[in-house]
Amino acid sequence: MQKIFKKLPNHIGIIMDGNGRWATLRGLQRNLGHKEGIKAIERTVLACQKYKIKFCSFFAFSTENWKRSDEEINGIFDLLRDYLNKEDNVFIKNKIKIDSIGVLDPFPKDLQKALYDLKDKTKNFDGLTVIFALNYGGRDDIVRAVNSLIEKGIKRIDEKMLLNALDTKQIPQPDFIIRTSGEMRISNFMLYQMAYSELYFPKLFWPDFKEKDLIKCLKEYEKRNRRYGGLK
Ligand code: FPP
Repeated sequence: MQKIFKKLPNHIGIIMDGNGRWATLRGLQRNLGHKEGIKAIERTVLACQKYKIKFCSFFAFSTENWKRSDEEINGIFDLLRDYLNKEDNVFIKNKIKIDSIGVLDPFPKDLQKALYDLKDKTKNFDGLTVIFALNYGGRDDIVRAVNSLIEKGIKRIDEKMLLNALDTKQIPQPDFIIRTSGEMRISNFMLYQMAYSELYFPKLFWPDFKEKDLIKCLKEYEKRNRRYGGLK
């Protein structure tokens, strides 16, 4: 494939916003927006693979999303379940490794099993890793990490210890965070990890996100001059 980007992010984090509004605008139930959102995940994952991105994480369910109606929450679980259990699984077929961050315990047991099974089946793939953030909150991640260090008897921590205790310990910090829908918030996504991430807020709803939009995002990233607080 022809090289079309001068530089690429190693890890892209995506805050998929606007599913509800996409559906409401069309007079549909919110969960139909999430259903279309899954199609956008699939398109994006395949495009990430095509452009040789190594890590792509999706904020699929936040620690705050439990405030939504039972109908919407169960609808998201049903969609996730169907998607993970699909015979013709896109991740297995395309040799994509699946990982997750967040606390899975409160999810239905069969959903947890489907996710663990998929993680197991894809664990040796070494191209693209897709990370689903499920019942994930950046603050919760930090608090759990600190508590895990306290439980080990550690009295004083440094940045490296904390980084190695977060859910993302095996995953590089995100270089690029994309949030769709035009809202400019981080909403408790990888708070500690995104200290030096480049941020981008394309003005379209997540279900409308296509390969050409990912290309636009990557072209934007190409223009960024990352200095990490230095002067280069
Ligand atoms: C944000 O839109 C979207 C969510 C909170 C849920 C996204 C979940 C999925 C697409 C399903 C997860 C599936 C997999 C495979 C991980 P919103 O509902 O906040 O939209 P709004 O701001 O327009 O109301």
